Amino acid sequence: MERTLTNDIGEHEGKEVVLMGWVAVRRDHGKIIFIDLRDRSGIAQCVFIAKNPEVYAIAETLRHEWVIKLTGTVSKRPESMVNTDLANGAWEVKASAIEVLNVAETPPIAIDTDGYDIGEEHRLKYRYLDLRRERLQANLRLRHEVIAHMRDYLNDRDFVEVETPIISKSTPEGARDYLVPSRVHPGKSYALPQSPQQYKQLLMTAGLERYYQFARCFRDEDTRGDRQPEFTQLDLEMSFVTQENIMNLIESLYIDTIMTLMPEKKIQQIPFPRLTYKEAMEKYESDKPDIREDKNDPNLLAFCWVIDFPFFEPLDKNSGQGEKGWTFTHNPFSAAQPEHAENLRKKENIGGILAAQYDLALNGYEIGGGSIRNHKPEDLRTVLEIMGYDEARIKESCGHMLEAFTYGTPPHGGIAMGIDRLLAIVANEPNIREVIAFPKTGDARDLMMDAPSPLAKNQLDEVGLQLK
Ligand code: AMO
Repeated sequence: MERTLTNDIGEHEGKEVVLMGWVAVRRDHGKIIFIDLRDRSGIAQCVFIAKNPEVYAIAETLRHEWVIKLTGTVSKRPESMVNTDLANGAWEVKASAIEVLNVAETPPIAIDTDGYDIGEEHRLKYRYLDLRRERLQANLRLRHEVIAHMRDYLNDRDFVEVETPIISKSTPEGARDYLVPSRVHPGKSYALPQSPQQYKQLLMTAGLERYYQFARCFRDEDTRGDRQPEFTQLDLEMSFVTQENIMNLIESLYIDTIMTLMPEKKIQQIPFPRLTYKEAMEKYESDKPDIREDKNDPNLLAFCWVIDFPFFEPLDKNSGQGEKGWTFTHNPFSAAQPEHAENLRKKENIGGILAAQYDLALNGYEIGGGSIRNHKPEDLRTVLEIMGYDEARIKESCGHMLEAFTYGTPPHGGIAMGIDRLLAIVANEPNIREVIAFPKTGDARDLMMDAPSPLAKNQLDEVGLQLK
């Protein structure tokens, strides 16, 4: 007989069903035993009576989290016993047969609660149990639905999802790289991408015109509530577009996703308000301002764009990079705003040059950012020169981009949206670890896998490394 999901038992009233799942709760009332059987769809109450001794005897041995297969007849519960909290709470299943598919040790953490009160060391060590709780199941499903919806939306608009390499090269993007030493080329190393930035621009050179990817990015920086060493971006790039085109596309995509999947949410203002960087800093002292009118409303989403960022900022004298100079505020591949392009070319009034850069903030978090790029090699070169790169460093870090741009690269721009942050906010979670299946701890460990782990001597030898 085919399996029925617990959520669907109401459709089988008076009939026999087979359920498979976990023992969530067992209540022993002497002559009658109740089991809450949990599967991916929900919970069903199952009843065992002493009159059926063989099955009853097995029911007596059942413990939390055992995996069982249960055959029984669906019947209406007495009026007074209806559980209105459950979709199928008007029915129960009278067990006629049971098979234990797997026994379970007593779980080291409670999984029938929301879990907020359990220490994270325990939750992450036993993440596969932690994920059984209803709250995290709902978060992973919401994550799946959001990503699926966004994919459909972009596919309908002629975008192509392209995968870009994970084993790649260290590039100037602001954070520290995760390195992957090469075995074949001793002394050389790959780096994991901080974002697909250069590949997506080169896909514009390649003529794709409309690219997106749900891309994993890797940054070796201190972990915080809204930061993980690896995280997911909706990464996107388009050719022959203006800043306005990209902002409008993302705005429509986000409004559509929220209205379709989360009708309970209220978007504070549509179209999303726009603040200049200067206004945001003056009014909110933040470049990702929280503009919510009511900060107690868990369903209020206050998006706002921040634009007109300065392109360069003075290099911190203590950065270890030696003499004073300039560095980029966001992205070395950005273009200047059209009315500032001349100053960039002439390297004049550098501190006053504004970048064609736009960030999206939501309830006080930066949930995305992008820019129109320099697609002419001489303009990209100028940016690198302003940052004090000498010829060798320009070649080393961006030679391939500069060369690619000599072969007919279209004007282009894009954006990358932080998917983990969006989900944590809409799910009203306090941090992004709650919406990631297997996140790292605050000090970047995976407690379940016990990573990072020491390297064996032969592994070091293979890649030609020696530990200090
Ligand atoms: P940026 O570095 O601003 O831009 O990243 C884009 C968005 O990614 C999210 N984000 C993070 N989320 C979780 N953990 C992190 N450590 C983390 N770092 C960033 C944020 C951020 O807004 N290549 C450019 C984009 C472009 O110009 O197209 C980039 O990566 O929500």
